Order: sequence, then C-alpha cells, then structure tokens
Amino acid sequence: MSEPAADRYDRMHYRRCGRSGLLLPAISLGAWETFGGYRDAGTARDCILRAFDLGITHFDLANNYGRPPGNAEVVVGEILRELPRDELIVSSKAGYRMWPGPYGEWGSKKSLVASCDQSLKRMGVEYFDIFYSHRPDPDTPLEETLGALDLLVRQGKALYVGVSSYGGARFAEAVGVQQRMGLAPITIHQPYYNLLGRQVEDDLLPHTSTAGTGVIAFCPLASGLLTDAYLDRPLPPDSRAATQWASGWTRSRSEEQRRETLNALDGLAKERGQTLAQMALAWILRLPGITSALIGASRPQQIEQNVTALDNLSFTQEELARIDHLCPA
Ligand SMILES: NC(=O)c1ccc[n+]([C@@H]2O[C@H](COP(=O)([O-])OP(=O)(O)OC[C@H]3O[C@@H](n4cnc5c(N)ncnc54)[C@H](OP(=O)(O)O)[C@@H]3O)[C@@H](O)[C@H]2O)c1
Repeated sequence: MSEPAADRYDRMHYRRCGRSGLLLPAISLGAWETFGGYRDAGTARDCILRAFDLGITHFDLANNYGRPPGNAEVVVGEILRELPRDELIVSSKAGYRMWPGPYGEWGSKKSLVASCDQSLKRMGVEYFDIFYSHRPDPDTPLEETLGALDLLVRQGKALYVGVSSYGGARFAEAVGVQQRMGLAPITIHQPYYNLLGRQVEDDLLPHTSTAGTGVIAFCPLASGLLTDAYLDRPLPPDSRAATQWASGWTRSRSEEQRRETLNALDGLAKERGQTLAQMALAWILRLPGITSALIGASRPQQIEQNVTALDNLSFTQEELARIDHLCPA
C-alpha cells in the first residue's frame, strides 16, 4: 500500500452526480491511450498516486483501453490495489470491439455481461463503481442493453450504470425505457465535450438535466489541443490531437486558423491568470449540469496544473461572449 497524502481531500471539489447519492471529483482521470499504452507503468503509477493525493478519487477505464486493448485495466488495476478501495470510484465500459466474433462489441446482453466479467478479472476488483454502455447500438433494443446493465447491478458487479456517447434523442428514449421497466437508473452520461466540440449543449444537456443524470465530459482538452503543447508549432500529424476526436475541428481549419483561435484562447486564459488547459477545464465546469471533467495525462505535473483550474471557475459575461465568438456552439 502506498501512503496517501493526509490533506488529499482539502482542495478538490466534489459534485453530486445528477440526482444520485454519488459524489465525483470535479476532475477525474482516464487511462484511455496513456496508461498501459504509450506511457510506461512507472509513469502511470506516478500519475495515479499524485492524482489521488490531489483528491482525484475517480479513475475511468474501458475494456479496450491500452496496448494491446485491455492492458490499461491490467496496469491501472495493479496500481489501484495500492490505494484504499472504498475511497475510489472505478469505472469501465463495453461497446467497442474487444474480441473476435459477433459478441465482442456493441450492446447485447451477451457482450456486456461477458465483457464486464473480463474487465473485473483484468483489474482484479470485485465490482465496478460505474459500468457503462460505451456507445449506442443501433441494432440491439434499448430494453436489452439497459436490462444487461441492470443485471450487472443485481449481480453486484456494478454499483451504478451509465451510457457514453448516446445522442440526446437516444438518451431520452433510454431514460423512458429504464423508467418504464423499473431498471437501474442511468446515473451518469459520458459525452465528448470541450471548447471545440459543443454539440452536447443543445443536443444532450437539456435531456440529462430533465432526467437528473450526471455528466462527465470526456476529452475536455481535446486530447491535448487545448493546452500550450501545440500553440507555437505545427500539429504533429500523428498526435492524438490531430488524429482523434478533435480531428474534425482541426481538418476543417488551416494551420493558421487553428493557431489564431488557440492563441486567442490562450491570451484570454492568461488575462484570467490561467493556462489554456486550466481555462478549458474551468469553462466546462462552469455549467452546474456537469459533474466532472475527465482528463487524460502523461505526466504528474499536467495533473497538478489541471487541478489548479479549480481555483477560478467563474467567468464574466464578457469572457463568455469572447469564448462564444472564438468557439461558436
Ligand atoms: N467514452 C468515450 O468514448 C471516451 C473517448 C475518449 C476518451 N474517454 C475518456 O476520457 C479520458 C480523457 O481523454 P483524453 O486523454 O483525450 O483527455 P484530454 O484531457 O482531452 O487530453 C489529455 C492529454 O492532454 C495533454 N495534457 C493534459 N494536461 C496537460 C497540461 N496541463 N499541459 C499540457 N498538456 C496536457 C496530455 O497529452 P500528452 O499525453 O500528449 O502529453 C494528455 O494525455 C480518457 O482517458 C477516457 O477515460 C472516453
């Protein structure tokens, strides 16, 4: 066991996840491509232990994270065994392709239950605090997907369940099914949301608010684009910022337009006494409907810098208007 910092709960803010009893840290840490992926296990350990010392109690995984897929759960599971389990919120997901054949992906009962069992074994935990349907499945009835999540709760393999990347209409339909069938509530939604990708504001957030569902925003830094890492240099074509979720935004702009927007945002952040990353996180957390911003990190110093965003979460109307102009919804 590592010895966690005695003051670990002094600085972090904890927010209620929708209308549930679950409190999540305003900043949570995900493993996606970093831990068990392009960062070694020692770096992953340094990041996770530092995060916990800063009050980050929530660590997010999925069956397919890491290289090879699944390795993130193995690496992070081993590190988390050094920390007190009852102080942690550990999540995983199933939905993207994980093993060959017809049951290795999407949202059938067969796939979700088998994948959860595999993830529990890889991580070496008895239960997940949150288990997600990772993406909507157009061909499986919502009754079956939500019924499978409900089964995991009844089996004691998950305490809470959630959905990820469901569009607003599909999410509202899912809430209707859950309520009609008396299934485990959809406690949390995990969508893509950041300054460069604001689609959820109109499409999803009105529905999560009505349903009393918490929201944890993934890729709040657009996988690194909303940091000072690429302000003064061309975007490396193989960087996650160029190839992953923010790629639509970057491709639809010239290198010069990208730099102009990001440098203007950086200028505003500096006026606020923040880094671009800190402002990007504060901007997400400005909304009361957002429970947590789910960051990634490849160094403990990045986590330290990002947690300092919590020192200033308020925006003037003028600042918000400037942001809307630079990053229209
Ligand atoms: N549900 C889904 O479908 C889904 C999809 C994607 C992600 N997620 C979740 O969201 C989590 C976060 O995704 P993400 O890693 O793309 O998040 P992100 O927070 O948008 O980007 C993280 C990256 O930004 C850079 N960074 C972070 N803080 C920095 C700082 N202060 N200064 C400079 N650079 C900084 C690092 O890049 P370098 O590593 O290059 O240094 C870091 O790996 C994932 O781990 C996963 O849990 C969920």
